[in-house]
Amino acid sequence: MTETLKTKPRVLSGIQPSGNLTIGNYLGALKQWVEVQQEYDCFYCVVDLHAITTPQDPAELRQKSRESAAIYIASGIDPEISTIFVQSQIPAHSELAWMLTCMAPLGWLQRMTQFKDKATKQAQDSIGAGLLNYPALMAADILLYHADLVPVGDDQRQHLEFTRDLAQRFNHLYGETFTLPQVMTPKAGARVMGLDNPTAKMSKSEDAENHAVFLLDDLSRARKKFMRAVTDSHREIRFSDHPDRAGINNLLTIYQAITNESTLDIETGFADKGYGDLKKAVAESVADTLAPLQKKYFELMDEAGYLDSVLKLGREKAAAIANDTLKLAQDRMGFLPPS
Ligand code: TRP
Repeated sequence: MTETLKTKPRVLSGIQPSGNLTIGNYLGALKQWVEVQQEYDCFYCVVDLHAITTPQDPAELRQKSRESAAIYIASGIDPEISTIFVQSQIPAHSELAWMLTCMAPLGWLQRMTQFKDKATKQAQDSIGAGLLNYPALMAADILLYHADLVPVGDDQRQHLEFTRDLAQRFNHLYGETFTLPQVMTPKAGARVMGLDNPTAKMSKSEDAENHAVFLLDDLSRARKKFMRAVTDSHREIRFSDHPDRAGINNLLTIYQAITNESTLDIETGFADKGYGDLKKAVAESVADTLAPLQKKYFELMDEAGYLDSVLKLGREKAAAIANDTLKLAQDRMGFLPPS
């Protein structure tokens, strides 16, 4: 096995550049990515090949891909420590994805919850086959780097299981080639729900005005969205998994993810306060987080050539590893090497 000289366990993760990144992406993923950078050898990918599993406007996709990479950096990912890259710029992802697609049992793919959810929402003739094959591409992303740990939310656990199963199948059929990755469970990873509908996960591709707070939202607009967040007709401010209390629970979860205060301290702090106070406190804590992030974002976008140089370096570092792994897998499968 090409163990490509790992000095630390390797972490790999990615976010789709479809739509604008939200505080859900920050609190559920980016914040943890930043926290593990020193301890692990981290690869953070802008997964544009995944984004095209649903139709994207070309100009917008290009713009969002740059914007996402810049947000990774503005959130605190240090390109001198971690590797930041764009998936489509490394052809090995597409190539290994095809090889894995051919090995992936159709039944496994059809059983994926995310596929079933998305596929049942649309007519069979209007969804691309990429939605079905999506997990094979995700497996390629992970396996190309021999990633040990993959920080993902609960909704992606099944895809990680699939990746392990497929890697095992490949190793069994063709000999030890891939490292089996594990889910990295974040210490306090928040699952942020929609402000307009707190029983559904906050989504960057949801259009409703008060659904999501985007990382690049104007701060006064972000505050307003919190003030309009859906709550309930109780008055107690407590963490709860009761569906009626999803709105309050979501606000408290966001507050906790930002302040890192204990559940008890937070509940005590709000014991004699009202929902308006809670909303204001959450809005302020989020605004305090977004202000420096946005400042950094605009500074680095203003610096001509900076982002391009980060992505070039990232592509070179990632490609060196990915190409080695791809070559090995191609050899194992029996492809005739170019002379
Ligand atoms: N499917 C992931 C999501 O939607 C994104 C993703 C693509 C990913 N490739 C990955 C996550 C590899 C972790 C590792 O959230």
